Amino acid sequence: MSRRFRLRTISGDSDYSPEAPNLIDRREFMRHSFNTAAGVITMASLGAVGFASLLMGQSSSDEGDSSVRFWVPTGAEDSAWYGDMHLEQMPYQSFVDAAATSATGMAGASGVWSGLPVLVIYVPHDENSQAPLEEDKPRFQLMDGYDESGGYVGSGYEVEEEPEYEALSIHDNMIIIFARCPHLCCIPGWQLVSNDFTSDQWMPGGVDAGGNKLFCICHSSRYDPTVIEKNRSRNRTNGTEFEFIGVKRTGGPAPVGMPLIPFEVNGAGIIEALDDFVDWYTFCD
Ligand code: FES
Repeated sequence: MSRRFRLRTISGDSDYSPEAPNLIDRREFMRHSFNTAAGVITMASLGAVGFASLLMGQSSSDEGDSSVRFWVPTGAEDSAWYGDMHLEQMPYQSFVDAAATSATGMAGASGVWSGLPVLVIYVPHDENSQAPLEEDKPRFQLMDGYDESGGYVGSGYEVEEEPEYEALSIHDNMIIIFARCPHLCCIPGWQLVSNDFTSDQWMPGGVDAGGNKLFCICHSSRYDPTVIEKNRSRNRTNGTEFEFIGVKRTGGPAPVGMPLIPFEVNGAGIIEALDDFVDWYTFCD
């Protein structure tokens, strides 16, 4: 019998009951991850065959592997700084070391957690947050979020002010992002292609100018991983809307940004993701 995994529902969901938590099995969980044609095509192009063989994360029986692992796209073995660490657990220190070789002090990597594609981004927030706001002094910025019709949804400040988002409070100079593009569900990358959006540069204010954007090769959507906002997204199949905390879309056809995944650094220095908001990661169903 397949293991079943507990989904914690965000507050306000009237269907949630602590006595009867939502449970999904491995097949259902994978469907949330890679079921669309666009997703399959993109996964293949990025060398993703084998995702499905990975262990599931956080299980209801505590058997799972909650660590985040590097995922080296095919063709990036020699160009990505983590090119020789495919499927290895992500040590936090490796991001600190990679960031030290960057002009902006930022570093990012593709990864996989619980069969889900993720992006892990290190930003020298603690070092720069008290310095004057200027080019190439990156820090996390908490900003207002607007839906695709321009309506105000909420503020990134809620990660610091609202108890329900406490797990997403900025810490360790790092964020983890669920890497499915809300346009057609391709998988954006970090500096995997070379253009003005991916160069090692940073501009304040969440503008589309400057580099170090998360770039989706399918139709050129861009995301600023240093801007944390609250926004609203929609399940592609059933139209159900949900609000989430995530990074800002700065350009391209994607309607909104991508949601965050909470994490912690364990005692051995390995990055482990948490399953607090799994229901945010189903919009490509
Ligand atoms: S799927 Fe990402 S821009 Fe179209």
